[in-house]
Amino acid sequence: MNTCEMRCVYPGSFDPLTNGHLDVIERAARLFDEVVVAVAENELKNPLFSVEERVGMLREVLTPYPSVSVAGFDGLLVNFVRSVDAQVVVRGLRAVSDFEFEFQMALMNRKLDDGVETIFMMPREEFSYLSSRIIKEIARLGGALEEFVPPVIVQALQTRLQSGSRP
Ligand code: PNS
Repeated sequence: MNTCEMRCVYPGSFDPLTNGHLDVIERAARLFDEVVVAVAENELKNPLFSVEERVGMLREVLTPYPSVSVAGFDGLLVNFVRSVDAQVVVRGLRAVSDFEFEFQMALMNRKLDDGVETIFMMPREEFSYLSSRIIKEIARLGGALEEFVPPVIVQALQTRLQSGSRP
């Protein structure tokens, strides 16, 4: 990579991706030469979709963004950031309630690797109430999802919840 180019990592569980995540990705893509969306395995969170499924869905949704790539990761985030030769972690902040955990995580990541900087970006206000957990609840209860997630994700949620199977 050219030394002047800036690459960031946008990590998360993305179980599933919401329009709020997409908004942060678009904002990061305007600031950085390259954005690597890093999908955490996070088995402890008992995800609805496997990491391979989440990576596949994100790749499909993010096809129109040539500077954005998607990868799964396990283990420490700072190690992944180093492995893709990035310098910055981007996280979204929806509300003050997100701040405490995000602040703790950013400081711990800095302690683990002082060369990795965390920056926060605010998604559009109308997405501030969105979360993957709430999306899954609406999906389970049969509510309309089209306003909140891309069509690929609506389809995947409906298929997964109708079949009742887990990865
Ligand atoms: O979308 P999420 O679930 O809020 O994302 C959290 C994530 C995946 C960014 C965080 O759990 C993470 O970085 N996990 C990797 C493990 C790690 O590095 N832990 C130490 C950082 S405090």
